Formats: sequence, C-alpha cells, structure tokens
Amino acid sequence: MPIIAVPKERAAGERRIALVPEVAKKLAAKGMELHIEKGMGDSAFFANTDYKEVTIQTDNASLCSNAEVVLKVQPPTVEEVGQLKEGSILISFMNAHKNLDMVKALCEKKITALAMELVPRISRAQSIDALSSQASIAGYKAVLMAADRAPVFFPMLTTAAGTIRPSKVLIIGAGVAGLQAIATARRLGAMVEAYDVRAATKEQCESLGAKFIDMDIKAEGQGGYARELTEDEKQQQRDILAKHIAAANVVITTAAIPGRPSPKIIMKNMVEGMKAGSIIIDIAAEGGGNCELTQPGDTIEHHGVVIHAPLNVASQMPVHASEMYSKNLFNLLSLLIDEGRITLNWDDEVIAGSTLTHDGEIKHAATRELIEGGQA
Ligand code: NAI
Repeated sequence: MPIIAVPKERAAGERRIALVPEVAKKLAAKGMELHIEKGMGDSAFFANTDYKEVTIQTDNASLCSNAEVVLKVQPPTVEEVGQLKEGSILISFMNAHKNLDMVKALCEKKITALAMELVPRISRAQSIDALSSQASIAGYKAVLMAADRAPVFFPMLTTAAGTIRPSKVLIIGAGVAGLQAIATARRLGAMVEAYDVRAATKEQCESLGAKFIDMDIKAEGQGGYARELTEDEKQQQRDILAKHIAAANVVITTAAIPGRPSPKIIMKNMVEGMKAGSIIIDIAAEGGGNCELTQPGDTIEHHGVVIHAPLNVASQMPVHASEMYSKNLFNLLSLLIDEGRITLNWDDEVIAGSTLTHDGEIKHAATRELIEGGQA
C-alpha cells in the first residue's frame, strides 16, 4: 500500500496541519497507509488518539524517507527536502519565488512537488483551491480583529443612553477574502462600502449588502485576477478613495496581484486624513501591504490610527483552517489515487498546472526563469 506521511509543521507561528482525522479515515478507505509524526495534530487541537487509521512515529527523518507522498502546510526547508525519498511526491504550499534553494533541492532529489498555490483556478478545481479556503478565513478574522480593536460599536444600537450610529467599514479588494470580510462586517451590523478594480466584483459586493465605490478604472487581468494599475490610474484611485477612507471607522485591505508586491493604495497623507481611533487591518501584509505605513507582522499607530498587519491569519483559526486545507489536499490526492495506487496523469490540467518540480525539472515557468536568470 502506498505510504502517505505527515510530519509536524515546524515553521514559527504555524498552527495549521495538513491532515485532520476525518480525512485520514477517507484516505485509509482509499487504500492508503498513513503515517504521522507524534503530536502532528496538537497545534490544531487534534490528539494522536483522534487518528484511528494511522501509524504514529516519533522519528521525523524515517517517517518521510519511507513515504511515497508527504503532505505539509508550509514550504519544506532544504533540510526537510533532504529527508524525502528520492522520486516521491510532496504536496504543500511552496512559495517558490521566496525559496529558490528549496526548489533546487527538490530537483536534486527528483521530487514531484505539487504546490497548492499553483492549483489552477478553474471551476473543476474549486474544491482543491487552498488559496480560497484560507483567504476566506483571513477575511472573516480581519473583521473580528477590527471589531476587537475599534473604540466603537459595529451595529446601530438604540439604548436608554441614546442611539449609537453603526460603524462605517470599507473593504478594499473584493476577492475571496474581501467578500468574506463584507459578509462578516454586515453580520456584525456595520455599514459596509467596498471597492475592487475588477468590475465583476460590483454585483458580488452588492449582493452581500455592501455599497460599491464605482470608478472608471477597469483592471481585469489574466485568470480572473487583477492587473497592475498605471501610475495615472493609481492616482485617480487614491483621489477617489481618500474621501471614503477618511469617513470610515475601519478599513480592511486585501488587494493583491499574483506574483507582484501588494499595490500601495493607502498613502501616509490618507492615513493622516482619517479620524483618530480608526483602524486599518491590512491583510495584504504578506505581499508588503496595501498601506504605505504598514509594517508586515506588526501593529503601529500613526496620528491615532492603528494599522494592524498580521501575517498568516488563517493559522489563528487552526481547527477550521486545517479541516478546509486537509479537504483541499484530499480532493487533489483523489486525482492521484487510482485503485489503491498513486499515479500522475499529466493530461489532467489540475495536476500539470500545480506541478512545481518533477523528475529533476522545474515545471513552473516563472520559477524556472527566476533560477535560470541567476536570481537564486
Ligand atoms: P487576490 O488575493 O489575488 O486579490 C484580492 C483582490 O484584490 C482581487 O479581487 C483583486 O481584483 C483586488 N485588487 C488587486 N489590485 C487592486 C487595486 N489596486 N485596488 C483594488 N483592488 C485590487 O485574489 P483572490 O481573492 O485570490 O481571487 C480573485 C479572483 O480570482 C476571484 O474573485 C475569482 O474571480 C477568481 N477565482 C476563481 C476561482 C475559481 O474559479 N476556482 C477560485 C478563486 C478565485
């Protein structure tokens, strides 16, 4: 039986895990032999005893070196790649452009590395789309962080001590995280405005109860993503947004462009135009942030405005983040499992598109160019 192994996540601050007990059971039912490192589930509150169909191992190195498939959340370190069996399959987030030495190590060991962030965003692959599952958690959590820090209520309240006006929440970037943020802020009773450069998002924002900020800029890019704006468009965007930002109690920014630093949308002078006590939650911090003053991973205060820029937000909700991620992995693995065997069907665009490295070659063009261009 093919062995699927799951080591503990060792990256600082990572609480999510790649295999939850329910998915372990389903993989066992598909004829897989499961091995996990002792305590692998602890950070997401799953005990060793919750895993019924698995072998629990204490030696991480032999755990991985005996497996046909290794599942992880965070990209492996070069050392972790060294522990994999030559020619085996590794599935996790890879963030290849930030980990070029790891990519070279994957090639040397002839690992087939399937990168969860490369899964094509097509309808058939929606159940495999970990960027979406994790982004929706980040959008939800961002609103709770804002509500927790805000010196005001979100909902309108009529009390014996007077009427409280609802908070104004502005969501910039209405992709997966932004839409979840709109829904969450509405559930808390805030007045919500939203903005995105992709015109298609207007209807989605409105259907969730947000007022959409219309501009003439239309920036649909490839694959349903946004393109980068020109300098003129950026200025036009800032001029219009400045008024809405100044009126908001809370601004949540989620804007991203694949493979590029996050666009800077809120400049220093715009923060200075906000009321003291306002909050910016910048969950685009992973790519540098959407606010000029953002310090990724940190919280700062400028002119009475708090700018909170958490990293790896999904890890703060490890139970559901792990359940969703683990199901994404299961759905991807289901494409590889054929009558109890692991096979790679290169005609499947989901498998081909997700492959970072295979048999010593870098299959992802942008990563190959980075390495061949000598930026490693
Ligand atoms: P993302 O995380 O790359 O970006 C977040 C949002 O920021 C996007 O909506 C983008 O348009 C927006 N943005 C970029 N630059 C901006 C700027 N200068 N100002 C304002 N907003 C800006 O995107 P995400 O959330 O991962 O996905 C975006 C879209 O991709 C989805 O809404 C959908 O259309 C498509 N998608 C398709 C899927 C499928 O069919 N399986 C699954 C998930 C996403």
